[in-house]
Amino acid sequence: MTNSKEADISSAEMTAYWRSLHPKLSGDTLSVNLASAEGIQKAKIFEEKFKYPLVGRKVSVRAGFMLQKSMEILSTGLYDSCVSLGSGFSMLTYILAEELNRDNDRPIQFIDLDLPEIVKERKRRVSKLIIDKNISADVVSKIQNVEIDIEAMHAMEVSFKNVFRDCKRPLFIVEGLIYFLTNNCVEWLMQQITRYDLSAVIFDYWPENGVNESLCFSNAIQAMAGFMPENVKSFWSDEGIARLSGYFKRIENLKIKNIENEMSEKMLDTPKFIDSNTFFPVKIFVGLEPKNR
Ligand SMILES: C[S@@+](CC[C@H](N)C(=O)[O-])C[C@H]1O[C@@H](n2cnc3c(N)ncnc32)[C@H](O)[C@@H]1O
Repeated sequence: MTNSKEADISSAEMTAYWRSLHPKLSGDTLSVNLASAEGIQKAKIFEEKFKYPLVGRKVSVRAGFMLQKSMEILSTGLYDSCVSLGSGFSMLTYILAEELNRDNDRPIQFIDLDLPEIVKERKRRVSKLIIDKNISADVVSKIQNVEIDIEAMHAMEVSFKNVFRDCKRPLFIVEGLIYFLTNNCVEWLMQQITRYDLSAVIFDYWPENGVNESLCFSNAIQAMAGFMPENVKSFWSDEGIARLSGYFKRIENLKIKNIENEMSEKMLDTPKFIDSNTFFPVKIFVGLEPKNR
Protein backbone atom coordinates (compact mmCIF):
# COMPACT_ATOMS: atom_id res chain seq x y z
CA MET A 1 0.00 0.00 0.00
CA THR A 2 1.41 3.36 -0.97
CA ASN A 3 -0.63 5.51 1.41
CA SER A 4 -3.81 5.30 3.44
CA LYS A 5 -5.76 7.79 1.31
CA GLU A 6 -5.28 5.54 -1.71
CA ALA A 7 -6.85 2.61 0.16
CA ASP A 8 -10.07 4.64 0.50
CA ILE A 9 -10.53 5.21 -3.22
CA SER A 10 -13.15 2.81 -4.52
CA SER A 11 -12.58 0.39 -7.39
CA ALA A 12 -15.46 2.29 -9.07
CA GLU A 13 -13.13 5.25 -9.70
CA MET A 14 -10.50 3.19 -11.51
CA THR A 15 -13.14 1.30 -13.47
CA ALA A 16 -14.78 4.53 -14.66
CA TYR A 17 -11.42 5.60 -16.13
CA TRP A 18 -10.68 2.23 -17.76
CA ARG A 19 -14.19 1.95 -19.28
CA SER A 20 -13.50 5.00 -21.42
CA LEU A 21 -9.85 4.22 -22.17
CA HIS A 22 -10.75 2.32 -25.36
CA PRO A 23 -14.11 3.82 -26.34
CA LYS A 24 -14.16 1.97 -29.67
CA LEU A 25 -14.36 -1.24 -27.64
CA SER A 26 -16.59 -0.03 -24.80
CA GLY A 27 -18.86 2.45 -26.61
CA ASP A 28 -18.44 4.61 -23.48
CA THR A 29 -16.82 8.05 -23.63
CA LEU A 30 -18.74 9.34 -20.61
CA SER A 31 -17.75 7.34 -17.52
CA VAL A 32 -14.22 8.78 -17.33
CA ASN A 33 -15.84 12.13 -16.48
CA LEU A 34 -17.09 10.59 -13.23
CA ALA A 35 -13.61 9.51 -12.14
CA SER A 36 -11.70 11.91 -9.88
CA ALA A 37 -8.07 12.86 -10.56
CA GLU A 38 -7.09 10.68 -7.55
CA GLY A 39 -9.05 7.76 -9.02
CA ILE A 40 -7.26 8.06 -12.37
CA GLN A 41 -3.91 8.30 -10.60
CA LYS A 42 -4.73 5.18 -8.61
CA ALA A 43 -5.67 3.29 -11.80
CA LYS A 44 -2.23 4.08 -13.20
CA ILE A 45 -0.58 2.88 -9.98
CA PHE A 46 -2.63 -0.34 -10.20
CA GLU A 47 -1.40 -1.00 -13.76
CA GLU A 48 2.21 -0.71 -12.64
CA LYS A 49 1.98 -2.30 -9.22
CA PHE A 50 0.25 -5.42 -10.55
CA LYS A 51 2.17 -5.43 -13.87
CA TYR A 52 -1.11 -5.37 -15.76
CA PRO A 53 -0.95 -2.81 -18.59
CA LEU A 54 -3.86 -4.57 -20.33
CA VAL A 55 -6.32 -3.91 -17.48
CA GLY A 56 -7.83 -0.88 -19.27
CA ARG A 57 -8.37 -2.97 -22.38
CA LYS A 58 -9.97 -5.72 -20.27
CA VAL A 59 -12.42 -3.28 -18.65
CA SER A 60 -13.24 -1.62 -21.99
CA VAL A 61 -13.88 -5.02 -23.64
CA ARG A 62 -16.07 -6.08 -20.72
CA ALA A 63 -17.98 -2.79 -20.80
CA GLY A 64 -18.49 -3.11 -24.58
CA PHE A 65 -19.78 -6.66 -24.17
CA MET A 66 -22.16 -5.62 -21.36
CA LEU A 67 -23.49 -2.80 -23.54
CA GLN A 68 -23.98 -4.96 -26.65
CA LYS A 69 -25.53 -7.86 -24.76
CA SER A 70 -27.88 -5.62 -22.73
CA MET A 71 -28.93 -3.85 -25.90
CA GLU A 72 -29.65 -7.22 -27.55
CA ILE A 73 -31.67 -8.51 -24.56
CA LEU A 74 -33.63 -5.30 -23.94
CA SER A 75 -34.35 -4.74 -27.63
CA THR A 76 -36.47 -7.91 -27.66
CA GLY A 77 -39.19 -5.89 -25.89
CA LEU A 78 -39.68 -8.76 -23.42
CA TYR A 79 -38.04 -7.01 -20.46
CA ASP A 80 -39.54 -4.03 -18.59
CA SER A 81 -36.50 -3.04 -16.53
CA CYS A 82 -32.73 -3.12 -16.17
CA VAL A 83 -30.98 -3.05 -12.81
CA SER A 84 -27.23 -2.41 -12.58
CA LEU A 85 -25.98 -3.87 -9.29
CA GLY A 86 -22.78 -2.20 -8.03
CA SER A 87 -23.10 0.42 -10.77
CA GLY A 88 -20.31 2.58 -9.31
CA PHE A 89 -19.43 5.44 -11.64
CA SER A 90 -20.44 3.62 -14.81
CA MET A 91 -22.64 5.50 -17.30
CA LEU A 92 -23.92 2.24 -18.82
CA THR A 93 -27.57 2.70 -17.83
CA TYR A 94 -27.53 6.26 -19.19
CA ILE A 95 -26.16 5.07 -22.56
CA LEU A 96 -28.78 2.30 -22.72
CA ALA A 97 -31.65 4.56 -21.64
CA GLU A 98 -30.73 7.25 -24.14
CA GLU A 99 -30.71 4.74 -26.98
CA LEU A 100 -33.58 2.46 -26.00
CA ASN A 101 -36.10 4.90 -24.51
CA ARG A 102 -35.80 7.57 -27.21
CA ASP A 103 -38.99 6.70 -29.12
CA ASN A 104 -40.31 4.04 -26.84
CA ASP A 105 -43.91 4.42 -25.69
CA ARG A 106 -43.30 1.69 -23.10
CA PRO A 107 -39.99 2.94 -21.65
CA ILE A 108 -37.69 0.55 -19.85
CA GLN A 109 -37.14 1.36 -16.15
CA PHE A 110 -33.41 1.75 -15.40
CA ILE A 111 -32.00 1.44 -11.87
CA ASP A 112 -28.46 1.97 -10.57
CA LEU A 113 -27.66 0.42 -7.19
CA ASP A 114 -24.55 0.83 -5.05
CA LEU A 115 -23.40 1.57 -1.50
CA PRO A 116 -24.91 4.80 -0.07
CA GLU A 117 -21.65 6.79 -0.16
CA ILE A 118 -20.99 5.85 -3.80
CA VAL A 119 -24.55 6.67 -4.92
CA LYS A 120 -24.46 10.10 -3.23
CA GLU A 121 -21.16 10.97 -4.89
CA ARG A 122 -22.36 9.55 -8.21
CA LYS A 123 -25.44 11.81 -8.16
CA ARG A 124 -23.27 14.85 -7.46
CA ARG A 125 -20.87 14.05 -10.30
CA VAL A 126 -23.66 13.21 -12.78
CA SER A 127 -25.35 16.57 -12.08
CA LYS A 128 -22.07 18.23 -13.01
CA LEU A 129 -21.95 16.22 -16.22
CA ILE A 130 -25.34 17.60 -17.26
CA ILE A 131 -23.80 21.06 -17.17
CA ASP A 132 -20.24 20.30 -18.33
CA LYS A 133 -20.90 17.71 -21.03
CA ASN A 134 -24.47 18.56 -21.93
CA ILE A 135 -25.86 15.11 -21.24
CA SER A 136 -29.65 14.88 -21.07
CA ALA A 137 -31.12 15.94 -17.71
CA ASP A 138 -34.35 14.26 -18.78
CA VAL A 139 -32.70 10.84 -19.30
CA VAL A 140 -30.79 11.21 -15.98
CA SER A 141 -33.94 12.12 -14.04
CA LYS A 142 -35.67 8.89 -15.08
CA ILE A 143 -32.85 6.59 -13.90
CA GLN A 144 -33.60 5.51 -10.35
CA ASN A 145 -30.79 5.35 -7.77
CA VAL A 146 -30.89 2.81 -4.96
CA GLU A 147 -28.51 3.17 -1.99
CA ILE A 148 -28.04 -0.20 -0.39
CA ASP A 149 -25.37 -2.67 0.70
CA ILE A 150 -26.11 -5.99 -1.02
CA GLU A 151 -24.44 -7.92 1.81
CA ALA A 152 -26.80 -6.21 4.29
CA MET A 153 -29.78 -7.01 2.04
CA HIS A 154 -28.70 -10.65 2.11
CA ALA A 155 -28.18 -10.63 5.90
CA MET A 156 -31.65 -9.13 6.43
CA GLU A 157 -33.20 -11.27 3.69
CA VAL A 158 -34.71 -8.27 1.94
CA SER A 159 -36.19 -9.64 -1.26
CA PHE A 160 -35.48 -8.10 -4.66
CA LYS A 161 -39.19 -8.03 -5.41
CA ASN A 162 -39.66 -5.67 -2.44
CA VAL A 163 -36.83 -3.33 -3.44
CA PHE A 164 -37.46 -3.25 -7.19
CA ARG A 165 -41.23 -3.10 -6.90
CA ASP A 166 -42.00 -1.95 -10.45
CA CYS A 167 -39.70 -4.46 -12.10
CA LYS A 168 -41.69 -7.45 -13.26
CA ARG A 169 -39.34 -8.72 -16.00
CA PRO A 170 -35.87 -7.38 -15.12
CA LEU A 171 -32.43 -7.73 -16.67
CA PHE A 172 -29.71 -7.61 -13.99
CA ILE A 173 -26.25 -6.34 -14.92
CA VAL A 174 -23.59 -7.32 -12.39
CA GLU A 175 -20.36 -5.85 -13.73
CA GLY A 176 -17.11 -5.89 -11.75
CA LEU A 177 -18.96 -6.72 -8.52
CA ILE A 178 -19.45 -10.42 -7.88
CA TYR A 179 -15.93 -11.18 -6.55
CA PHE A 180 -16.39 -8.51 -3.84
CA LEU A 181 -19.36 -10.43 -2.39
CA THR A 182 -19.21 -13.45 -0.08
CA ASN A 183 -20.11 -16.89 -1.47
CA ASN A 184 -23.32 -17.03 0.58
CA CYS A 185 -24.39 -13.61 -0.66
CA VAL A 186 -23.70 -14.60 -4.29
CA GLU A 187 -25.78 -17.77 -3.85
CA TRP A 188 -28.65 -15.70 -2.39
CA LEU A 189 -28.29 -13.10 -5.18
CA MET A 190 -28.72 -15.77 -7.85
CA GLN A 191 -31.78 -17.13 -6.04
CA GLN A 192 -33.31 -13.65 -6.06
CA ILE A 193 -32.55 -13.16 -9.76
CA THR A 194 -34.04 -16.50 -10.80
CA ARG A 195 -37.27 -16.04 -8.82
CA TYR A 196 -38.96 -14.06 -11.58
CA ASP A 197 -41.11 -15.66 -14.28
CA LEU A 198 -38.90 -13.80 -16.73
CA SER A 199 -35.50 -12.30 -15.94
CA ALA A 200 -31.93 -12.31 -17.22
CA VAL A 201 -28.49 -11.75 -15.79
CA ILE A 202 -25.07 -10.82 -17.17
CA PHE A 203 -22.08 -10.96 -14.83
CA ASP A 204 -18.33 -11.28 -15.02
CA TYR A 205 -16.53 -13.61 -12.62
CA TRP A 206 -13.12 -14.89 -11.62
CA PRO A 207 -12.76 -18.64 -12.23
CA GLU A 208 -11.12 -20.59 -9.42
CA ASN A 209 -8.51 -22.09 -11.76
CA GLY A 210 -7.58 -18.62 -13.10
CA VAL A 211 -4.59 -18.45 -10.75
CA ASN A 212 -3.09 -21.53 -12.44
CA GLU A 213 -3.67 -20.10 -15.89
CA SER A 214 -2.19 -16.64 -15.45
CA LEU A 215 0.90 -15.36 -13.65
CA CYS A 216 -0.40 -11.80 -13.77
CA PHE A 217 -3.62 -12.91 -12.06
CA SER A 218 -2.01 -15.07 -9.36
CA ASN A 219 0.53 -12.34 -8.47
CA ALA A 220 -2.21 -9.70 -8.22
CA ILE A 221 -4.51 -11.87 -6.10
CA GLN A 222 -1.75 -12.41 -3.57
CA ALA A 223 -0.91 -8.70 -3.34
CA MET A 224 -4.26 -6.95 -3.79
CA ALA A 225 -5.50 -6.97 -0.16
CA GLY A 226 -5.59 -3.43 1.26
CA PHE A 227 -5.24 -1.73 -2.13
CA MET A 228 -8.98 -0.95 -2.33
CA PRO A 229 -11.73 -0.59 0.27
CA GLU A 230 -13.34 -3.68 -1.34
CA ASN A 231 -11.76 -7.09 -0.69
CA VAL A 232 -11.87 -10.03 -3.04
CA LYS A 233 -14.19 -12.62 -1.46
CA SER A 234 -15.42 -15.15 -4.03
CA PHE A 235 -14.33 -17.18 -7.03
CA TRP A 236 -16.36 -19.58 -9.17
CA SER A 237 -15.68 -23.27 -9.64
CA ASP A 238 -16.76 -25.13 -12.80
CA GLU A 239 -19.29 -27.02 -10.64
CA GLY A 240 -20.77 -23.73 -9.37
CA ILE A 241 -21.23 -22.45 -12.92
CA ALA A 242 -22.70 -25.80 -14.04
CA ARG A 243 -25.19 -25.65 -11.16
CA LEU A 244 -26.16 -22.06 -11.94
CA SER A 245 -26.53 -22.92 -15.65
CA GLY A 246 -29.19 -25.45 -14.66
CA TYR A 247 -31.40 -22.63 -13.35
CA PHE A 248 -31.72 -21.00 -16.82
CA LYS A 249 -33.22 -22.10 -20.12
CA ARG A 250 -30.43 -20.41 -22.09
CA ILE A 251 -26.88 -19.56 -21.04
CA GLU A 252 -23.58 -18.30 -22.43
CA ASN A 253 -20.28 -18.73 -20.58
CA LEU A 254 -17.55 -16.83 -22.37
CA LYS A 255 -13.82 -16.21 -21.95
CA ILE A 256 -12.68 -12.57 -22.02
CA LYS A 257 -9.87 -13.69 -24.33
CA ASN A 258 -12.35 -14.87 -26.97
CA ILE A 259 -14.50 -11.75 -26.61
CA GLU A 260 -11.42 -9.51 -26.98
CA ASN A 261 -10.10 -11.45 -29.98
CA GLU A 262 -13.47 -11.33 -31.76
CA MET A 263 -14.07 -7.61 -31.01
CA SER A 264 -10.55 -6.69 -32.14
CA GLU A 265 -10.89 -8.59 -35.42
CA LYS A 266 -14.25 -6.92 -36.14
CA MET A 267 -12.59 -3.51 -35.59
CA LEU A 268 -9.59 -4.50 -37.75
CA ASP A 269 -7.41 -4.10 -34.66
CA THR A 270 -4.73 -6.56 -33.49
CA PRO A 271 -5.98 -8.85 -30.69
CA LYS A 272 -3.92 -8.29 -27.55
CA PHE A 273 -5.18 -11.14 -25.36
CA ILE A 274 -2.89 -13.92 -26.56
CA ASP A 275 -0.61 -14.93 -23.65
CA SER A 276 -2.83 -15.71 -20.64
CA ASN A 277 0.04 -14.75 -18.29
CA THR A 278 -0.53 -11.10 -19.19
CA PHE A 279 -4.22 -10.65 -18.33
CA PHE A 280 -6.82 -11.78 -15.78
CA PRO A 281 -8.66 -14.74 -17.38
CA VAL A 282 -12.07 -13.33 -16.45
CA LYS A 283 -15.22 -15.00 -17.77
CA ILE A 284 -18.67 -13.60 -18.47
CA PHE A 285 -21.89 -15.50 -17.80
CA VAL A 286 -25.22 -14.70 -19.42
CA GLY A 287 -28.35 -16.45 -18.10
CA LEU A 288 -31.74 -16.02 -19.76
CA GLU A 289 -35.21 -17.19 -18.77
CA PRO A 290 -35.10 -18.88 -15.36
CA LYS A 291 -36.58 -22.33 -15.09
CA ASN A 292 -39.25 -22.26 -12.38
CA ARG A 293 -37.56 -22.95 -9.05
C1 LIG B 1 -15.23 -2.48 -9.78
S1 LIG B 1 -16.56 -1.43 -9.35
C2 LIG B 1 -17.58 -1.66 -10.78
C3 LIG B 1 -18.47 -0.49 -11.05
C4 LIG B 1 -19.32 -0.59 -12.32
N1 LIG B 1 -20.21 -1.72 -12.31
C5 LIG B 1 -18.45 -0.60 -13.53
O1 LIG B 1 -18.32 -1.67 -14.16
O2 LIG B 1 -17.90 0.43 -13.90
C6 LIG B 1 -17.42 -2.35 -8.08
C7 LIG B 1 -18.61 -1.63 -7.49
O3 LIG B 1 -19.29 -2.53 -6.61
C8 LIG B 1 -19.74 -1.79 -5.50
N2 LIG B 1 -19.95 -2.71 -4.36
C9 LIG B 1 -19.03 -3.47 -3.73
N3 LIG B 1 -19.60 -4.14 -2.70
C10 LIG B 1 -20.91 -3.78 -2.69
C11 LIG B 1 -22.02 -4.13 -1.86
N4 LIG B 1 -21.88 -4.95 -0.83
N5 LIG B 1 -23.23 -3.57 -2.12
C12 LIG B 1 -23.39 -2.71 -3.17
N6 LIG B 1 -22.37 -2.36 -4.00
C13 LIG B 1 -21.14 -2.88 -3.76
C14 LIG B 1 -18.60 -0.81 -5.23
O4 LIG B 1 -19.02 0.25 -4.42
C15 LIG B 1 -18.23 -0.42 -6.65
O5 LIG B 1 -18.96 0.69 -7.08
